[in-house]
Formats: sequence, C-alpha cells, structure tokens
Amino acid sequence: MTEAKVVLKMEKLTLMDLPGVGAATAEKLESAGYHDLMSVAVSSVGELIEVTGVSEAVARKMINSARDSMKMGFETGMDILRRRELVTKLSTGSASFDTLMGGGFESGAITECFGEFGSGKTQIGHLLTVNALKEDSTATTVYIDTENTFRPERIKQFAEAAGMDVEDVLSRIMVARAYNSDHQMLLAEKIEDLISKQGKNVRLLVVDSLTAHFRAEFIGRGTLAERQQKLNRHMHALAKVASAYNVCVYVTNQVMAKPDQFFGDPTTSIGGHIVAHASTFRIYLRKGKKGTRVAKLIDAPNLPDGECCFEVLEGGIKDAN
Ligand code: GTP
Ligand code: MG
Repeated sequence: MTEAKVVLKMEKLTLMDLPGVGAATAEKLESAGYHDLMSVAVSSVGELIEVTGVSEAVARKMINSARDSMKMGFETGMDILRRRELVTKLSTGSASFDTLMGGGFESGAITECFGEFGSGKTQIGHLLTVNALKEDSTATTVYIDTENTFRPERIKQFAEAAGMDVEDVLSRIMVARAYNSDHQMLLAEKIEDLISKQGKNVRLLVVDSLTAHFRAEFIGRGTLAERQQKLNRHMHALAKVASAYNVCVYVTNQVMAKPDQFFGDPTTSIGGHIVAHASTFRIYLRKGKKGTRVAKLIDAPNLPDGECCFEVLEGGIKDAN
C-alpha cells in the first residue's frame, strides 16, 4: 500500500472500529466529547471507565488500539519551529503591557489573568476582542460569559475609539452565556465545530470567568477532587482549541484569601495547580495607585517575569504615567 492510501485508511477509522466499542459505547463517548480516535488515544483508562462504564481491561485495549492506529509521538525541532512561526501576538493597546507579554497575547496558547474584583480582567477581555477583530477583518471571536458581564456597549466604545464599524464588530463576536460549569464545558467543546464544520476563522476565545461556576458549585473539601477533575477536562478542551487551531485563548480567574499567609501577598488564585499548569502565561492583576492597574507576569515559558502599570479608559487601555 502506498503511504497516501495508508493515511486514507487511518482517517476512515471511527470510534466503532475500536475493540469493545459498539453503538451504545460510541454514543457515550461522543456525548462526553470524544469524537475521534485521537481523543481516545490521549485519554486515560480512568476517564474512559468513568465515561463509558467499560472494564479496565477494555478501556486499556481501546486506548492502545487508538494509539496504534495513528501516528503519535515525536516531532522534530524544525516542525515545532515552523509551528511557532505561525504564532501571532494580539496587542492590548498599552505599549508596556505588550512589551511585558513579548509583543502581546500569544495565539496557540492560554493566557490567564487573575485578580480581585474590579482589577480589569473583563475589560481586557473586551479589549482583546475588539483588537482581534481589528487585526483581521475575516476574524470571529468567541466570548463565553459566565457572569453576565459581556457588554456590547463597552465593545462599541472600544470599536469607535479604534475607528471601526461597530455593527461589523458586534456581528463578528459570538457570545454564549454559560449557566453552569457543565454548560461551560460543553460550550468549550463545541468551539471546534464552529471552526471545522462552520468554517469560522476564530482568532480569540475568551472565557470570563473560567472558575466562577466551578467555585460556586463545588463547595467543601469532599467535592474538591471532582471539581479539579472537571476543571482539568475543561482546560484540556481549551488547550486543544488553542493548539490545534492557533487560537489565542484568554481566561479570567478570581483570587481567594489565604488566611495562613502572613508575608507577601495574602491571596491565591482559584483552581490550584490544574489551572496554573494548563495556562501558558499567567498574569496577576491588581489595583495600583490613583486608579491605575498593575499587571505582573508570573509565569511564561520564554519571557522574564516583570510588571507594568496601565489605566482603563473609555476607549481602551493606556500606559499609566
Ligand atoms: P470581577 O469580574 O468583578 O472580578 O472584576 P474584573 O477584574 O473583571 O473587573 P473589570 O474588568 O470589570 O473592571 C472594572 C473597572 O474597569 C472599573 O472599576 C473601572 O475602573 C474600569 N472601567 C470599566 N468601564 C470603564 C469606562 O467606561 N471608563 C473607564 N475610564 N473605566 C472603566
Ligand atoms: Mg469580570
């Protein structure tokens, strides 16, 4: 068989071709967001058992068979360099904020801003939306709004300040209100359809707030493991959108008081290691002097840590003097 034919054959395989997967199991997998062999290949035995109720042995066979059926594993450094060349940087409008971020918010990655109420997380989400639409006239952006804080009026102000056609801008923003954490997870898993089935050129995905529903729904120590497991799955879905389609993903997160901390900053972000780990860039936002905001880059793969100071204005954000 020639190589092209082998590839064709691989693409034709579906979930039902896996050992132990009949129509009922395939349906369970589909409804849990496992649409192709790749998603099974990269999942864990525990996840598959939870989703389908099959035995451990069957789950293991499914994963191994999915892995065997596809080319997985290593890429050369050149492959990765070529992919890195596709990375774009989305400007915030504040020169010092952009510099802090190495030129702007990166595509193909998740950037998390966490900070107290009023620190500017939602404003940044609105601003990035307008800037993404400005940089690419064919672009669409997606805004998953969990706290009902998306404001078209605010988009209008930013768009007008940027000299853009407000109706065009608003019509290229797809807003979904997420009513609970399951709904939020489902929305994130549907974004792939927007891109691959509806052909939308999604350049930015905002999830504001990433953690509020999870925080409100899972209260008390006993539920923490379940919450983290769900958050983990959600972060995976977001990371997949980012890397498979070179989308800039921006998520917001709250902070909570750390009562046992006497030195340094007495706050910590929600979602613990799961969120921290899955976010490529992490920014801590806080209120500064005279109405300014301070952004501190605390985690980035190839940038030095640092701080910048900006102001939120009617038409955008600007460096603070
Ligand atoms: P939570 O979602 O409550 O955690 O806060 P957040 O971090 O999302 O805060 P948000 O981005 O909503 O910031 C609100 C702040 O932005 C306000 O307190 C104002 O300082 C500023 N802001 C919002 N709209 C305007 C505006 O039209 N003009 C100006 N100058 N500032 C604004
Ligand atoms: Mg907000």
